[in-house]
Amino acid sequence: MPIRSEYINDVADFLKQLPLGAFLTVKSGNKINTMTIGWGSIGFIWRRPMMMVMVRYSRFTHELIKDATDFSVSVPLDGHLKKTLAEVGSKSGRDLNKFDAFEITPEAARSINSPVIADCGLIYECRILYKQPMEPGILDEVLEDKWYHDKDYHVLYYGEIVANYKNRG
Ligand SMILES: Cc1cc2nc3c(=O)[nH]c(=O)nc-3n(C[C@H](O)[C@H](O)[C@H](O)COP(=O)(O)O)c2cc1C
Repeated sequence: MPIRSEYINDVADFLKQLPLGAFLTVKSGNKINTMTIGWGSIGFIWRRPMMMVMVRYSRFTHELIKDATDFSVSVPLDGHLKKTLAEVGSKSGRDLNKFDAFEITPEAARSINSPVIADCGLIYECRILYKQPMEPGILDEVLEDKWYHDKDYHVLYYGEIVANYKNRG
């Protein structure tokens, strides 16, 4: 599928913001949730533009994404929504509706079922093609001790980027 020529240029904005946080939003059945992510990757796999996000088993988001067909990644630009990223990254959708609690506006996506977050400057809509639970014991030992001492591993979700656009915000 053709991808916008701006895809490559947008990657710089994405990578600059990712360590500070982006919103991973998932709809499964009639449930919708969003959480902050700081890790992930973007590139080409299977000759398709691809986004990979990492979700720990303990997240409410995991309960949704494991059965979902797609996800969106909404990236605030220019330092926007800093406080919201911290709130969405510290509270669980198990305990409260984060859209109401933190006044975040979900907006219908263009090509997927999961919504996107309005007021984010850069949007990725991704169709899940592959998922890969981390296998204990084969990660570099130092990293395994540092990040997974409690065995709360990530599952890696690979989504084909089916839409990527600049939004208001
Ligand atoms: C800046 C930042 C980055 C984060 N990155 C990730 C991530 O990549 N993967 C992950 O599983 N959790 C990450 N978290 C933690 C989740 O956002 C957090 O646990 C959230 O409350 C999960 O929400 P949920 O239970 O509604 O899914 C991050 C948190 C912050 C503040």
